[in-house]
Amino acid sequence: MDTQIITNPSDQELDMLACALRNGELVSIPTETVYGLGANGLDPEAMDKIYIAKGRPSDNPLILHVPNSESIKPLVTEVSNTAQLLMDTFWPGPLTITLPKSDLVPDRATGGLPRVALRCPDHELCRALLERAGVPIAAPSANISGRPSPTTAQDVYHDMKDRISYILDAGSCTIGVESTVVEVHDDKVIILRPGGITKAQLEDVVSTVEYDTALVNATTKPKAPGMKYKHYAPKADMKLVRGNESDVSKYLKGQIKNSDRLTAVLTVDEHKDMFDTASSEKSNIKVLSLGSSKNPESIAYNLFDILRKCDELGVEYIFSESFDERGIGKAIMNRLKKAAGFEIIDV
Ligand code: TXA
Ligand code: MG
Repeated sequence: MDTQIITNPSDQELDMLACALRNGELVSIPTETVYGLGANGLDPEAMDKIYIAKGRPSDNPLILHVPNSESIKPLVTEVSNTAQLLMDTFWPGPLTITLPKSDLVPDRATGGLPRVALRCPDHELCRALLERAGVPIAAPSANISGRPSPTTAQDVYHDMKDRISYILDAGSCTIGVESTVVEVHDDKVIILRPGGITKAQLEDVVSTVEYDTALVNATTKPKAPGMKYKHYAPKADMKLVRGNESDVSKYLKGQIKNSDRLTAVLTVDEHKDMFDTASSEKSNIKVLSLGSSKNPESIAYNLFDILRKCDELGVEYIFSESFDERGIGKAIMNRLKKAAGFEIIDV
């Protein structure tokens, strides 16, 4: 199957993509978080193709994407006041809400779970396509399972070439990490996966917001099945270095000095010069900045791109700085820890 990339789509092309989706083909869709691998969310056979294209474990449920909050009505049996409040406040945006599913939603979408995950992306072109499709679009991140999520159409092409029919190219995703996934009860919100909407933002509108215990205690089974897998992983052996700033830089300088293998040091703009100087004599060290420590959103934006770059460079070892887990830092550290297979060096 040839994979066609469509940029600046005409109305006709959007209709063609909507029709392909309705008819069970796979189309990669841009969103504000990461690119999705879209299929008709009411068609189990179409969703089967997602699992095959990604090599995704079959118990890992899919998020259904909708163009507006009205569209969820046939898909759920109830919408609590809290759920409605979250949709009114954060949609369109990077918040995925799980609600009790109606019979219309195939078990294939939820991996047999009683709740369906729903999301309305803050991306005009994506919503225009969802509107035209007229069916909810199931879309996991469009990476091969376990690899860093794609934030450009080229990333999707790299992983999905010849596996899917079309990629709708809308440039780089503005946020760069996935949506926050929450389970909503009458008066409580549980965060199953940290993402683009922070805990503090949720607390502004709901009084009780908790992290799923699996996000606090690694031995508990997570409520979002996808959270149990090693994920976002580059090919290199990756480790996170955690501690105060001067101990971390001392440790990383030591690694730079002693390494004789192709090694990447993932740092921030503010520290890059220091490590560039430390590695100036060594061609096997790549110093890559994830963004500015003063602007954690920039780190979220660059994160997956840099992990993919390490693969392109053929890096064997990665040592990454760690980040404050407040705000979007929670999502950044969640992705980094998973990419590193939870190997953290405390210095
Ligand atoms: O930003 C995003 O959410 C992106 C874009 C494409 O929208 N999508 C995405 O999908 O990240 P995926 O499949 O890569 O991650 C979905 C996560 C997984 O951890 C999955 O286990 C969880 O959401 N999930 C999906 N349905 C669920 C459900 N019914 N109950 C609990 N967790 C669910
Ligand atoms: Mg994913």
